Order: sequence, then C-alpha cells, then structure tokens
Amino acid sequence: MLRRLHKDQPEAFAFTPANQAWAEAQITKYPEGRQASAVIPLLWRAQEQEGWLSRPAIEAVAAMLDMAYIRVLEVATFYFMFQLVPTGSIAHIQVCGTTSCMICGAEDLIAVCREKIADQPHVLSADGKFTWEEVECLGACANAPMAQIGKDYYEDLTAKRFGEILDELAAGQVPVPGPQNGRYAAEPLSGLTSLKDFDSGRTQYNASAQLAVDLGDTVKRIDGTEVPLTTPWLGKGPAPTAAKDGKAAKPAPKAEAPKAAPAAETPVTEVAQSQPEGLSEAREGGPDDLKKIKGVGPKLETLLHELGFFHFDQIAGWGAEEVAWVDENLQGFKGRVSRDNWVDQAAKLAAGEVTEFSKRVEDGDVY
Ligand code: FES
Repeated sequence: MLRRLHKDQPEAFAFTPANQAWAEAQITKYPEGRQASAVIPLLWRAQEQEGWLSRPAIEAVAAMLDMAYIRVLEVATFYFMFQLVPTGSIAHIQVCGTTSCMICGAEDLIAVCREKIADQPHVLSADGKFTWEEVECLGACANAPMAQIGKDYYEDLTAKRFGEILDELAAGQVPVPGPQNGRYAAEPLSGLTSLKDFDSGRTQYNASAQLAVDLGDTVKRIDGTEVPLTTPWLGKGPAPTAAKDGKAAKPAPKAEAPKAAPAAETPVTEVAQSQPEGLSEAREGGPDDLKKIKGVGPKLETLLHELGFFHFDQIAGWGAEEVAWVDENLQGFKGRVSRDNWVDQAAKLAAGEVTEFSKRVEDGDVY
C-alpha cells in the first residue's frame, strides 16, 4: 500500500501546552545527541492530539528533535499505526482481516463498515464521525472476528452486533469492549473445562474490559490530561516548556549532571516535598482497609503502614507537597498517589462514603 501525505494539509501544527510539556519530558529520557529516539512517541502524541499526522505535525516533531524532515517522514510513512489522512472524530475502526477473523466473518464486518461508514477505507463517513480500515492480526484470534475501536478490542463480533456498536458510538455511548457473545474472556465457547473455581470472586468483565469500563475512555484520545506528568529522572514534575513564536519549541535544555554538592540544589522541575506526619501504629480500632483506595494493593498497603499511614483521614489530609513526598518514597510504586488520586478517594472514604471501587472491594470483586 502506498502511504502518502494527505492532499489537504492544515496550515500549522502545535502541541497543546499539556502535550508540549509531555513531549519535552519524553525527549529528556534519551542521552544528549540521541533525541531522535523520541520520534515515535512524539509522532504518536501528535496523532492522538489531532487524530492523524499532517505534514506540519511531522515537521514540528522533526524540529523538536533536530531531525531532517525526511527522516521523520520515513518513520511516519513506514508504520501503519500512523494515520496519514484525517480520521473520524469519534473513532477510527480497525477491523482484523487475517486468517482467524477472516474465516469467522471479518468480511461481514467490513461490509458493515462499507455500508455505515464509507465504501472505501480511510474515507470519512458523511457525518465525519468514523473512518475504517482493514488491519493485520491484532492478536485476539481466539475471539475472532474482532475489531479495535479506540484503545480497546471488541471481540466475538457478528455483523449485527458490530452495526449496533457503531450506532451506539455515533449516539455518544461507549459500548463495553471485550467479547460480545457472552464469553468472559477467551475460554472455550462451551465453558470452562479446568480451573473452574475461577468463577468465584471475578470482576463483572475480564480484566481488560473491566479496566476500560472503569476508565470509561475507550474512544477518547490521549490529550495529556489523563495522568500527572512525572519525570522522575529530572527530579519530579514536567520539564519546562519553551514554546516560542507560536511554533513547536526545541527540546528543553538537558539538565546537567550534578557536579558537586548536589544535595544543596533543587532541580528546576522539582515540586517541593514535605513528609506527612505518620503514626507509630494504627489508632484504637485498627487500621482502615487502605486497599479500598483504587491503586492500593496489599504490597502498597504494607508500605504505607511502614511509613506510618493507617487511616483514610491521614491520606485525605495530604496537600500537594505531602503527595509529592509520598509519591517519591513509594519504592517501586513512584507516582501512584497522584496517578490514582488517592487523596480524593481517601477523603470520601474518611467521610463514610462508598466509592465505586470500594464497593467492589467490599463485594469481593477485587482480588
Ligand atoms: S486473526 Fe484476527 S486477531 Fe488474529
């Protein structure tokens, strides 16, 4: 397939401030002179922002990485994951057309795309909401036929169900991903033949589908606001932005390795940290079940106890500086506090409220 830039190109491209900060931070992952290693993440983020890669976006990424335009164009045109023409505002549908899916009905799914979206792949639907393409095996062959929509897989599809999914998406709904024929995951269609006690205590959907449901963002493109940007290799927090003249900026100057007495210096990007006051032991009545906070498992709960945190109200009282300290001191779990917003969760639990996640813990749906 010949992959060329689209005939209609926008005048300019610029990362949003959040994406610009993210992109500059990614560049700092690589040694001086090796910034080109960030080309795929930056192109991907540009595509997530706009839905596709335009020529100005490719040029902007090249400028940020000090690469020749042609080198970035080579990457963008080589990898099929990069869309070189505008995609649907709601979703770009990728139907697997490889062997398992083909013999299980992929052609019927493609017929649905032709009927509901456009007769040809990579062509916007009349309402601009969808585009589609046939792709190679997506690794879900046991649940053929399937399609990737947004970040998730919709499996065990029939033409009827696939058409319904497109209608639901067009109406602003987000259908639950995963198997669409009642199967839990990829177990035999006739039911489990071994490990039958697996049924007890499982979540409503399989782990991937459950996470997608919990996040509720299946077709939402990444826009830089999903998780706090952390750059632990720089200390903490986002790299400084340096956009100028409305154009994409060059990467932020690389932080110099500390030469002498680094302990007295605070990295430019570091958020002030303050160790929250802990307890030597849980109060009378015992510790709260910190595992009711989404993101805290048994290991993290033990770690929190070792740091002196046993109760929801302790965590609920952390300010930004305390969060920064704990985020930095959770060995092996850095950044989890802000990533999963423990403080807000803990505040609700301390007030006696039930969160969607704590209810699942109480119901035994989380293990
Ligand atoms: S053949 Fe379709 S996912 Fe593998």
